[in-house]
Amino acid sequence: MYILGIESSCDESGVALVKFDRFNAAPVCAGSLSFEPELPQLLAHALHTQIEMHQPYGGVVPELASRDHIQRIIPLLNEVLSASGVGIAQVDLVAYTKGPGLAGALLVGAGVAASLAASMNLPLLGIHHLEGHLLSPFLSANPPTFPFVCLLVSGGHTQLMSVQSMGQYELLGESVDDAAGEAFDKSAKLLGLDYPGGAALSKLAALGNPKAFNFPRPLMHSGRLDFSFAGLKTSVLTQVNKMSEKEIEASKNDLAASVQAAIVEVLVKKSLMAIKQTKLKTLVVAGGVGANQSLRETMSKECSKIGGKVYFPELYLCTDNGAMIAMAAAMRVQYGIETGTKHYGFDVKPRWSLAELVN
Ligand code: KG4
Ligand code: ZN
Repeated sequence: MYILGIESSCDESGVALVKFDRFNAAPVCAGSLSFEPELPQLLAHALHTQIEMHQPYGGVVPELASRDHIQRIIPLLNEVLSASGVGIAQVDLVAYTKGPGLAGALLVGAGVAASLAASMNLPLLGIHHLEGHLLSPFLSANPPTFPFVCLLVSGGHTQLMSVQSMGQYELLGESVDDAAGEAFDKSAKLLGLDYPGGAALSKLAALGNPKAFNFPRPLMHSGRLDFSFAGLKTSVLTQVNKMSEKEIEASKNDLAASVQAAIVEVLVKKSLMAIKQTKLKTLVVAGGVGANQSLRETMSKECSKIGGKVYFPELYLCTDNGAMIAMAAAMRVQYGIETGTKHYGFDVKPRWSLAELVN
């Protein structure tokens, strides 16, 4: 079975094609599978990032994002079909990101997906963007197995989930204010780095002293699995306001390293708490911040100390992409959770909690 996935929730247009053996799908309810189906295979994926386009504005401009998705998706689709050698007529299902995300941007992906599906009389399946991130490590050469704890760290979300099986997600804790990615981006902006800043800040951090500045680790000792990162940004602001431009420039690496250390320490500590509380031995880290090298190294080291194992998506699949959407759709079909619909509405959900996902 060939499944096409289209991602357009924010500032990345992504298209991908996955394949799985039709007989490897289970016509049963989620969680009651007596076998783990063979994982779908990624045949091709193509991506266009709008980051450069939004950089002069210091953040994503929703209207520009939507207009750019309109221009990109069809060429990306053609790229994926030609790279995979699969004809459009062979596609069996069209999946797209239904939410959460920017309404206009989501509508572009939904519109293209619904039009394609309608023109070929194919089922259409709307995918939760965060489920895509959560399942993205299944695309790697060394995939995890259910059950696991998932730390979802993107630009808009920071959540710890207990994942019992495909489609069975329980929220353990989340950020009460800014997401970890936002903390990276807002701190990066204060250091004069371009939007989105997380990756650039982590490059500087690699050259700095993480103990040079003592930034707060909010809610670290609360005993709860919730996060709070808004105070960190305020603390960075207070610190840079005390410094001259020359001093900031001279301490940039140390400031970046200290900000990164504060964020990473909180994420690692809470993930370990979640592992202990749930007694699950496997941790999956997904989302854009999962590309952070310090987080990857520290999390792996600390988890192994308590007998846990961590899985990350490949670096190129940490940030938004179409492959994770195609993968999530394929796994929903394989596990008998959903088969798609032939009611071709322009159905998007800009605000949508993963815990609300229909199983
Ligand atoms: O998952 P994602 O692509 O988009 C959302 O769904 O939000 O995550 C984007 C976020 C941005 O905040 C970006 O700065 C952050 O991921 N990010 C990083 C790194 N690469 C991307 N943060 C820290 N270190 C990185 N290497
Ligand atoms: Zn994302």
